[in-house]
Amino acid sequence: MLLSRRLVARPLEANRYLKQAGILEASRYFRSESGLEGVPLRRVLLKLSGEVLAGDKGFGIEIETLERLADEIKAVHDAEIEIGVVLGGGNIFRGVSTAAKGMDRVSADYMGMLATVINSLALQDALERKGVMTRVMSAITMNEICEPFITRRAKRHLEKGRIVIFGCGTGNPYFTTDTAAALRAKEMQAEVILKGTKVDGVYDKDPNEHADASMYKSLSFMDVLKLNLKVMDATAISLCMEENIPIRVFNINVPGNIERAVVQQADVGTSVTLNAKLSH
Ligand code: GTP
Repeated sequence: MLLSRRLVARPLEANRYLKQAGILEASRYFRSESGLEGVPLRRVLLKLSGEVLAGDKGFGIEIETLERLADEIKAVHDAEIEIGVVLGGGNIFRGVSTAAKGMDRVSADYMGMLATVINSLALQDALERKGVMTRVMSAITMNEICEPFITRRAKRHLEKGRIVIFGCGTGNPYFTTDTAAALRAKEMQAEVILKGTKVDGVYDKDPNEHADASMYKSLSFMDVLKLNLKVMDATAISLCMEENIPIRVFNINVPGNIERAVVQQADVGTSVTLNAKLSH
């Protein structure tokens, strides 16, 4: 199927047309096969760690950072790109490290999941104060606080232009919010996972500890697993590899980066895809 020249010249219109025609997952391949790289992304999943919300405070939620992130997410929404958000909870409670100190891992993970709901409600509040409609959907039912996660309902919310914030990770202990991001991206048929981090992309070694660390521009899921790179945990990477969900890792602390990565589809950070050649 090819788009008419008229639609190719009008990316937003083309995007709406693809949506109406029910071309969801296929659009990624369709876009590259048809030479339509310029057509805007239609639906994306943004994954932010809880630490990002803590800003310079290192703990809890820094309001200025929250406001900035909400502004940046709003810019993507204003460009008519559907956006789902998965937040971590490490700024409030870090399940894995607490379990390592002797706490029961299951209890620690549930506490971490509750922390993601606190972050989700904070982001919902910030976005709605800016006039963007949102829905928080939780993997663990807590009806008085937010909606339960129902795949088909979440998709309808996205189609209606609401930003959906997914709380409680996958709802299961032993899984990370990175895995939740991969799972929700697949369920929502998102075209890409955007992973906002505190560094510019994926490095061959920790750039905070090694001055000679070098950033990759692109690499494959298999490279990430083989080189044991800490992009996302192995469960999340495996799911992305099996389901062919590309990941873009970029620095969330550089203002405008979300918009650059999604709206302009600029080559920021590192892209992890199925068949990419490893390059620096
Ligand atoms: P549409 O059916 O597409 O109109 O979506 P909607 O979310 O606006 O419909 P609904 O009438 O179900 O929801 C109205 C409001 O109630 C929204 O703010 C929802 O987020 C909220 N809401 C819906 N279900 C629940 C729930 O189970 N728990 C909580 N806490 N809020 C809910």
